[in-house]
Amino acid sequence: MGDLLGVAVLGAGHMGADHIRRLDKVVSGARVAAVADPDLDRAKEAVAGLDGVTVHTDPLAALQAPGVAAVLVASPGPAHEEALLAAFERGLPVLCEKPMVPDTTGALRVLEAEARLGRRLAQIGFMRRYDAEYRRLKTLLDGGSLGRPLMLHCVHRNVSSPPGFTSAMLINSSVAHEIDAARWLLGQELTAVTVLRPASSAGAPEGLVDPQFVLFETEHGALVDVEVFVNCGFGYQVRCEAVCEAGSARIGDEHTMLVTRRGSATEEVAQDYLVRFADAYDREVQAWVDATRRGEVSGPSVWDGYAASAVAEAGVRALETRGRVAVGLAPRPDLYAEVSR
Ligand SMILES: NC(=O)c1ccc[n+]([C@@H]2O[C@H](COP(=O)([O-])OP(=O)(O)OC[C@H]3O[C@@H](n4cnc5c(N)ncnc54)[C@H](O)[C@@H]3O)[C@@H](O)[C@H]2O)c1
Repeated sequence: MGDLLGVAVLGAGHMGADHIRRLDKVVSGARVAAVADPDLDRAKEAVAGLDGVTVHTDPLAALQAPGVAAVLVASPGPAHEEALLAAFERGLPVLCEKPMVPDTTGALRVLEAEARLGRRLAQIGFMRRYDAEYRRLKTLLDGGSLGRPLMLHCVHRNVSSPPGFTSAMLINSSVAHEIDAARWLLGQELTAVTVLRPASSAGAPEGLVDPQFVLFETEHGALVDVEVFVNCGFGYQVRCEAVCEAGSARIGDEHTMLVTRRGSATEEVAQDYLVRFADAYDREVQAWVDATRRGEVSGPSVWDGYAASAVAEAGVRALETRGRVAVGLAPRPDLYAEVSR
């Protein structure tokens, strides 16, 4: 056990419980050393059958538990700032679920705190960068054979939204993934946002603006459109088509078994992100564990987390004001690449 990276997992809900299972059963080189959740029963349930794990209601107590050498933050977004700053104070490497910090002011405080340390400690959980299809698309675009990317057409659909999901969350929770993926695929910052509102679906909860059509402009003139529809009712679908000067490439079509019979053909559609992106989460956490054990930090950075929050905040303002909103970014500290690869 001594050789394994001891991880404190903060939050034992959907993502936290899945990451605890992943650290225990899938990933090599790490073990769950402590879990914190204000709902102690949930924490206990998530670690049932695991040895050598302490459970806590206080996340800060989990950081100080015996054997903890790294932190995986899977609490709700508003709790991330406190967790990240506490990890930085203790010099603990962190993998933090998206959004890094939902409000830009808080995200900037985290950016400044890590920049003051003068070294990276945090990787942000934008797991699409670890998805095989996204990686192929990134490699293709970077290779240059399709020429300059001009547009990305993206689709993000969920079967249904969880209770309490707001119209703003379509942007700062769901489209947050497209924001990071677009920055990463294009290697450009997003500079302005416009949000259009088609008629809301009768399948959406009363008052929720769902679907939405989000349009991003980028610093070198590309356009990124996202259809986000979180109560589509039929499946979890994430697609992206890059249209370039010399061709186009699309990912995210269902790659499951196609069954044809009696005049129709049917294909399965994933019902949830834990299924669609299972491999991406596995690779993300394994890459984090491997880098941490080597004493390195890789993957999406705190700058990427901050930029995503700033773009999402502009997006929410664009939704509310029904206008085009420019994105304002603070100066980028030297510690960070423009868009980390
Ligand atoms: N990467 C992805 O694809 C993806 C998908 C879903 C959710 N997420 C992110 O994961 C995080 C958790 O989402 P979820 O769906 O698991 O939510 P959830 O509501 O299912 O679980 C959150 C858990 O955190 C606990 N909690 C609340 N405050 C806490 C604190 N201060 N410290 C520790 N635990 C606390 C809650 O009691 C709950 O058990 C969010 O940031 C969310 O945006 C990421």
